[in-house]
Amino acid sequence: MSNKMWRVVDLLNWTARYFEQHGIPNPRLDAEVLLGHLLEKSRLQLYLHFEMPVFQEHLTPFRELIKKRIEHTPVSYLTNRKEFMSVDFYVDERVLIPRPETEQLVETILTTETGDSQRLLELGTGSGVIATSLAVHQPEWDIIATDISESALAVAQKNAETHAPAAQIRFLAGDLFEPIKAMDPGGEIRFDWIVCNPPYIKKTEWDTLSPDIRDYEPEIALFAGDDGLAVIRRLIVEAPEYLTPNGKLILEIGDAQADAIRTLIDAEPAYCTYELIKDYAEKERIVLASVS
Ligand SMILES: C[S@@+](CC[C@H](N)C(=O)[O-])C[C@H]1O[C@@H](n2cnc3c(N)ncnc32)[C@H](O)[C@@H]1O
Repeated sequence: MSNKMWRVVDLLNWTARYFEQHGIPNPRLDAEVLLGHLLEKSRLQLYLHFEMPVFQEHLTPFRELIKKRIEHTPVSYLTNRKEFMSVDFYVDERVLIPRPETEQLVETILTTETGDSQRLLELGTGSGVIATSLAVHQPEWDIIATDISESALAVAQKNAETHAPAAQIRFLAGDLFEPIKAMDPGGEIRFDWIVCNPPYIKKTEWDTLSPDIRDYEPEIALFAGDDGLAVIRRLIVEAPEYLTPNGKLILEIGDAQADAIRTLIDAEPAYCTYELIKDYAEKERIVLASVS
């Protein structure tokens, strides 16, 4: 990028072409999001200011963003933002970047008929998008959110403080149900909902992932043993002990895992019903199971 006078339109065209040459999948979109982020303008505003000159104070950091993007740093880690359920969440390398598919998990919970005041446990909260979105939509619900990663919990807490009613979500660190056991050694606490978007990628698939994911997102958020089921298997076995009568376990699963999940749930007599819910691409991506 030379030192000539750059306008917004030239910068976008140049950057999109440069990203394309470096195999970045959505070159124009990424150029717009990154420049918009730097100039504090929406993509629409960029279009309305196409002729606006961009000066050195912005060109220098923009070059730095371009360099990081062609090294495959995900755009959301460069902007520290990801929209989820129409809310802007803070994200960084400590957490998985929330995926649009996960919104369906939240929507399924919100559209299931329940009582007014539900107690909900989210395991593996990451950036906290699921727990926080549920708190925003259901301010009466009592929510506990956990993660094995203390650094992820710090991000989740930051997001909850920004968006959710104060103190509606309690955050606990630890491996799956361990923090619940530690909080309630008598084993009395029960949840109407247990929610989890667990890690579910096979370790053996590591080299098939795009570098954006493989080299930047936290491993603990992605991989679950050689068959991708290490965490889901434990959840299906352990959850019934923590559910109220009629309580529900809801999980996001990988798009080739539905049959394995059926086998796992069929082997657990505590579940009285379950369904696998398809996403917009007709893939079974959510399991909703109820105990009696
Ligand atoms: C796929 S990410 C989901 C993050 C977030 N809930 C979302 O939907 O964007 C899985 C999360 O589970 C956490 N995790 C992995 N293994 C865990 C375990 N054994 N116990 C608790 N959390 C775990 C990871 O740290 C990560 O934050």
